[in-house]
Amino acid sequence: MIFRKIILTLTIPWMTIAKSQDASNSSTQLSIWDGVYTEVQASRGEFIYEGACGFCHGYRLDGAADDPDMRSSPPLARTKFLRDWEGRSLAVLFELTKTTMPEDNPGSLTDQEFVDVIAYMLSVSNLPAGSIELQVDLHSLSQVTIHQTK
Ligand code: HEC
Repeated sequence: MIFRKIILTLTIPWMTIAKSQDASNSSTQLSIWDGVYTEVQASRGEFIYEGACGFCHGYRLDGAADDPDMRSSPPLARTKFLRDWEGRSLAVLFELTKTTMPEDNPGSLTDQEFVDVIAYMLSVSNLPAGSIELQVDLHSLSQVTIHQTK
C-alpha cells in the first residue's frame, strides 16, 4: 500500500505534469464520461481480463477473487474504484497497472492489452462508449480524468 502511494505521488505526477503542460495550449481535458473507448475495445479487454486479472480481481471486477486460494484485491470498477481514483488521469492508472500487474507476473501484457483492459474496466463501471478507441499513448491517456460522477 505504502509502496503504491509512493509510486503514485512521486513518480507519476512528474510525468503527468510534464505531459499536461505540453498539452495546455492545444487540447481539451476529457473525463471518463466523454465516451473515450469503444465497445469493440472493451470486448477485447474482457477477454484479456478473464485470462490475466479475473482470478484475483473477480469476474465482477469487485475484488472478490474467482480463485479461492487468492487473497482478495481491490475492485477495478464501479463506485468504490471510481471514488478511490477520483481526479487522477488514465495515464496514472495505466502506469500503475503496467508496472505492478498482473501481480503474479508484472508487465506480461503489451501496452495495447493494458489499455484494452482499462476500456473494459470503464465499460463495467457503466461509463458510455464512444466511436474512438482509447489510445496507447501517455499523452492522450493523461488528458482523460477519472470522475465518480459526470
Ligand atoms: C495474483 C493476483 C492478481 C492478479 C493476477 C492481478 N492483480 Fe491487480 N491487484 C492485486 C492486488 C493484491 C492488488 C493490491 C495491491 C496493493 O494495494 O498493494 C492489486 C491492485 C491493482 C490495481 C490498483 C487498484 C487500486 O485501486 O489500488 C489495479 C488497477 C489492478 N490491480 C489491475 C490489475 C489488472 C488490469 C490485472 C490484469 C492485467 C491485474 N490487476 C491482475 C492482485 C492481482
